[in-house]
Amino acid sequence: MSEEQVSHEGFEPKIIAFLCNWCSYAGADLAGVSRYQYPTNTRTVRVMCSSRVDPALILEMFIHGADGVLVGGCHLGDCHYITGNYYTEKKVKLVKKLMEKAGMEVQRLRLEWVSASEGERFSKVVADFVNEIKSLGPSPLAGDKPDEQKLEGLYVATNAARDFRLRSLVAREINLTEKGNVYDKKISQEEFDNLMDTAIEEEMARQKILFTTMDKPFSVLDIASQVNLSPQKVLEHIVTLKDRGLIVVDRYEGVMPLYVAPKEEVLR
Ligand code: FES
Repeated sequence: MSEEQVSHEGFEPKIIAFLCNWCSYAGADLAGVSRYQYPTNTRTVRVMCSSRVDPALILEMFIHGADGVLVGGCHLGDCHYITGNYYTEKKVKLVKKLMEKAGMEVQRLRLEWVSASEGERFSKVVADFVNEIKSLGPSPLAGDKPDEQKLEGLYVATNAARDFRLRSLVAREINLTEKGNVYDKKISQEEFDNLMDTAIEEEMARQKILFTTMDKPFSVLDIASQVNLSPQKVLEHIVTLKDRGLIVVDRYEGVMPLYVAPKEEVLR
């Protein structure tokens, strides 16, 4: 057994399970009533539909030390709000991309469809997920000494998930790729994914700039070297952030403006 595996011994993951009222929660209930055995590592949050689980909320669970997050909903086509779980799929896809950018293992987030009559399946899903998290080990953000770099990455990702541009893209993915826009123009899934990847890249970069300038004002050149972008790109992002009221000029050093982000806007 490797040293890493040994260090996971005795580890009991903390898993937050968001379960939709009509299917997965009822499935969990049935598992209990039917006395199917499964690990007790989950803390359940009942939601009316899996689509109510906000991408930023999932990321916040990791910031607060969850080792895993399970989102459970009705099978596709069975959502009590007709199309809710199709949106859940898109939201979870976005969160996984943001987790990857933040350096978190995407396996720590799982989406499962469990119906009200699938008590046994629910118990198996939980057991399997707990085993997977056990093999990954504790979250790098759990405990007294969280990995600072990953923690900042998660804050950046969470703020990006709150951004209106990413949210509206997620909400419009089905329309844009399957039904078409108001002019009946569809785009391919590949085109949409490229669009989304670019938007994620840009929002993550903007949030990184905000984090960099949160405690101390910096010039464009200093910010560029800290966030690994060209000064031109940083300036473009700063113009956007200024328009949104998220960054301001603190003072000038000679002719060079130094920018600062109000902390309350960054750590919302
Ligand atoms: Fe269950 Fe929507 S009601 S996923």
